[in-house]
Amino acid sequence: MADADTTEAKNYATSVPMQNVPFFLKGSNNLDWGMKNRLSQIFDPTSGRTVMLAFDHGYFLGPTSGLERIDLNIVPLIEYADTLMLTRGILRTTIPPTYTRGIVLRASGGPSILKELSDEEIAVSIDEAVRLNVAAMAVQVFIGGEHETRSVHNMTRLVDMGNRHGIATLAVTAVGKEMVRDAQYMRLATRMCAELGATYVKTYYVDEDFDTVTASCPVPIVIAGGKKLPEPEALQLAYNAVQQGAAGVDMGRNIFQSEAPAAMIQAVRAVVHENLSPTDAYDLYLALKESDKQSVEN
Ligand code: 5RP
Repeated sequence: MADADTTEAKNYATSVPMQNVPFFLKGSNNLDWGMKNRLSQIFDPTSGRTVMLAFDHGYFLGPTSGLERIDLNIVPLIEYADTLMLTRGILRTTIPPTYTRGIVLRASGGPSILKELSDEEIAVSIDEAVRLNVAAMAVQVFIGGEHETRSVHNMTRLVDMGNRHGIATLAVTAVGKEMVRDAQYMRLATRMCAELGATYVKTYYVDEDFDTVTASCPVPIVIAGGKKLPEPEALQLAYNAVQQGAAGVDMGRNIFQSEAPAAMIQAVRAVVHENLSPTDAYDLYLALKESDKQSVEN
């Protein structure tokens, strides 16, 4: 039997109401503790934003440029990311299990780049997601695509499975070649995903009225980086998105296909978390690139 505690308990602070601190993420206050904890492994609770490093492209593209050797090209970058978006194959084979930030697991797949991309199915079981200790599962949603309804059902099934275990669902709004990439389309796609249960949504930035996309979506939005742009343009894109209400970026090619990926991800972080202007962020990129070059030469 434990020793009896003879110290009288008296520090009840009866005049101090217990604090009820709202959760920092948009639309997420009514989620359970486990889900909020996982979201805090994806989004930085101080800035409320995230820099997701996306390198799941191989699930339909194979070893695309910059992702030929994830061990050599991507692992050195993971320390700068808030979270990683990847497939279970790469997670198991290549990412050190000592990594402690959130994992966003690619959870849909099927067709390769050679086929109709919207023909996806759920590609992971919830047991596997739990076993891998992931924070979120990511699923493509093809609004307006050939397999629109199936892709929406993929998402809603993942939401149901994820909610049972406190694992978030990231709906990735995939825009087919035939779709117009404008705010009207993005409002439709992101709002549908949120209404049908996505914990957060990834979409593309659009030049006009992107703030109406973030305003009308009741859960956080992160933007995809998209095709490789010159670094100043990619930094401007990230800046515009967060200034207009995005909760961060999910960036792949604009980081790992950059001439200096480590410098680039750090510059993106400064834009996302510190609101650094695109011009200052580009200066930071150049300075980091130069110092990395010198340390390799020495
Ligand atoms: C594939 C994805 C990728 O993760 C996404 O496209 C992010 O990478 P990038 O910034 O290179 O576009 O969701 O469908």
